[in-house]
Amino acid sequence: MSTVFNEETIQEAANQIKAGNLVAFPTETVYGLGADATNETAVKKVYQAKGRPSDNPLIVHVADVSQVEKYAVINDRARKLMDKFWPGPLTIILPIKPNALSKTVTGGLNTAAFRNPANKKTIELIKLAGVPIVGPSANTSGKPSPTKVEHVLHDLDGKIAGVLDDGETKIGVESTVIDISGEIPSILRPGAITREDLLTVLPNVQTPHHKVGKNEIPKAPGMKYKHYAPSAQVYIVKDEKWNEVFNLMKNKPNEVFGLMATDKIYSENGFDKLSNVKFKTLGNDVSSASYHLFDGLRTFDLDDSIKEIYAQGFDETKLGVAYMNRLKKSSGNTFFE
Ligand code: TXA
Ligand code: MG
Repeated sequence: MSTVFNEETIQEAANQIKAGNLVAFPTETVYGLGADATNETAVKKVYQAKGRPSDNPLIVHVADVSQVEKYAVINDRARKLMDKFWPGPLTIILPIKPNALSKTVTGGLNTAAFRNPANKKTIELIKLAGVPIVGPSANTSGKPSPTKVEHVLHDLDGKIAGVLDDGETKIGVESTVIDISGEIPSILRPGAITREDLLTVLPNVQTPHHKVGKNEIPKAPGMKYKHYAPSAQVYIVKDEKWNEVFNLMKNKPNEVFGLMATDKIYSENGFDKLSNVKFKTLGNDVSSASYHLFDGLRTFDLDDSIKEIYAQGFDETKLGVAYMNRLKKSSGNTFFE
């Protein structure tokens, strides 16, 4: 059994990290699976516990900017981003100093991902441990990222020393990843810090839209793997299609459907009158939808009666870019037509 640490027992959690063990930690985005970034044996345990492919590098979580300086060169662009967005949901890829971090952390790349999370308990944990903490999302590889302690324990109980509890995470989708090691800064993964936000600090930011081909090396290795997918098929529903979805569900009264939509879509389309529909609300906008998305997918994944999940699509602008990126992956890019 893994221990649940709280505000009073952060020191114990830090001792576990120092001893080379795994402790899951809260951030503003999702829970991370923490280990001492300077201890190669400990970092290897992270890959094992998650079942994560070893070529997928980890994010190094730091308590402050000075902790980055030990491992990477902070150029002008990096400094500007850190000043404006840290602590916060922005992960910055930087060229590292020779041999500063083990291959296990970087996947053998000459860059590494750094992030200063906006969570007081985790900042305290990193300070007490005295080392930066690597942390992929604290889920089994391929499953939706955890936004609650119960999600972490569902996937990792008994495989980790413990989890530091800070309730539900606020944002619900993982941090924006920006690579500034090349000529033009490039968003490798969309998140709550949008391209528009980044353009307030940098003159040019690109978003690679193309899919990674079989023999191509992706910029963010994590992008090539199947992700966030429950065992039921997920369909993305555009606004004008809800009436058709309603008819489909109504005409198959012996099948059970999962529905993830705003309260407005739910009530205005009469879904509350269908007894074969299980509903998980997405709140009322794209921000609450991002917050609820992974919990909804996980809840339906635990329910064997559900074979199909219908989830609301949002415009791909601002936070909608990150939300749709996760939803498309969980559905294998399948829209209800
Ligand atoms: O919000 C978050 O970022 C959460 C919390 C726990 O901080 N962490 C998280 O970690 O989502 P993870 O490991 O699930 O995703 C990190 C992504 C992966 O797609 C990985 O391939 C990419 O960042 N990445 C890490 N190091 C990289 C590097 N040097 N170059 C390019 N991509 C990198
Ligand atoms: Mg992840």
